[in-house]
Amino acid sequence: MTIDHQRTPEVGEAFDPAAFDHFSQEYAERPEGVWAALREIAGLARSERYGGFRIISRYDEICAAARNPAVFASGQGVAIPDHQMPPLIPVGIDPPLHGQYRKVLLSDLGPPAIARKEAEYRELADQLLAQIGEGEFDFCAAFSSQFPERVALRTIGFDLSDRERMSAWFHDMTHLRGIDDEAVGAAIAAMFGRVAEVVAQRRAEPRRDDLLSTMLDGEVDGRALRDDEILMYIALLLFGGLDTTASAIAGAFHYLAQHPEDRARLLADEVALDRAVEEFVRWTSPVQALARTVTEPIELGGCPLEAGEKVLLLWGAGNRDDTVFESPDEIRLDRFPNRHLGFGMGPHRCMGSHLAKVMVKIAIERGVKVLGDFELADPARVRWATGEARGIVELPLRRR
Ligand code: HEM
Repeated sequence: MTIDHQRTPEVGEAFDPAAFDHFSQEYAERPEGVWAALREIAGLARSERYGGFRIISRYDEICAAARNPAVFASGQGVAIPDHQMPPLIPVGIDPPLHGQYRKVLLSDLGPPAIARKEAEYRELADQLLAQIGEGEFDFCAAFSSQFPERVALRTIGFDLSDRERMSAWFHDMTHLRGIDDEAVGAAIAAMFGRVAEVVAQRRAEPRRDDLLSTMLDGEVDGRALRDDEILMYIALLLFGGLDTTASAIAGAFHYLAQHPEDRARLLADEVALDRAVEEFVRWTSPVQALARTVTEPIELGGCPLEAGEKVLLLWGAGNRDDTVFESPDEIRLDRFPNRHLGFGMGPHRCMGSHLAKVMVKIAIERGVKVLGDFELADPARVRWATGEARGIVELPLRRR
């Protein structure tokens, strides 16, 4: 598959939606113009990439589709182009079974359970921040990638000694899709092999305080979860929890490195950290796009849709819709209300949102304090990756 690096329009410039490609590198760096142009198109724009799909880019229409899983189904995949994997659980399962899978981990990922672990997560953040010396460093390698990996592995129930290889497989799986499918296949096989090994080993051991223990005792349809289901659940926790949270944190520090006045406001407690976290998630929209398949003829946004059509919910574009958010391309740390779509909407809304928000909050709270005065070392070396998830993967900062 070739990836076309189409030129992205500036805000207000005309744009041909047939060429829309959420994998384009230019789009990864500056999507605002594309999002604005798509929202202006009457009906639903259609891209001819990847076999063709409709693009839903206005806030209200994204919500309408996301809240109607009977017609906008997830069971035939939520990625365009499709992942070559069995459905991820529970994101690739439609109601009513979806709710049963979701219930297994709902309370372990709820606010009280996450709050109990906050001190442990803060310690993990401090350990990483303490290793950052004076001068220039890549914030992603030093902190924003590693911190969610450590938290997620610990919370799921993996040993941190697994981190480096899991991280390497994971990055091959997400960043080589469509570029080197053989390497992607090898990474999927290696990662699933290791997860299966851990699951088998842990079945025989006493339960612990982690998500894997809950899954081992979890039930759907009145029977225990099978190993293959636990595997696809863990795969989603990793897919859904690592790059996403890393993008939100890196995006926040990209902004804070260039806005010392907002760092000062955060340090002086002039803005509520919780509001700043929501705003960074809205603005970065780490999960920028996910697909659905239409199950029966329906009209949306004045556009008739046929059964079998693929649609892309462009959460990122919805989060910049100026009919909902004032000056949507601006970061306002105390934005309120802020009913963004960063964590999705409807029955599949992110189960890890509390954990993600705690991680972003700790990263900002501790990072701003420990790093002190810092700036962007070289804007030209900031590197972005895109796909369903979009965000900064290399961020050269300098401590002064
Ligand atoms: C800033 C970080 C994150 C963002 C932006 C994000 C975003 C999203 C979005 C947009 C969805 C909706 C999927 C859909 O409608 O098809 C979702 C679902 C999900 N997320 Fe997250 N997520 C984040 C972090 C996490 C973390 C840390 C975890 C794991 C602990 C997680 C676990 C899940 C799960 C399990 C689902 C599926 C829910 C379902 O299908 O019912 N996410 N996430």
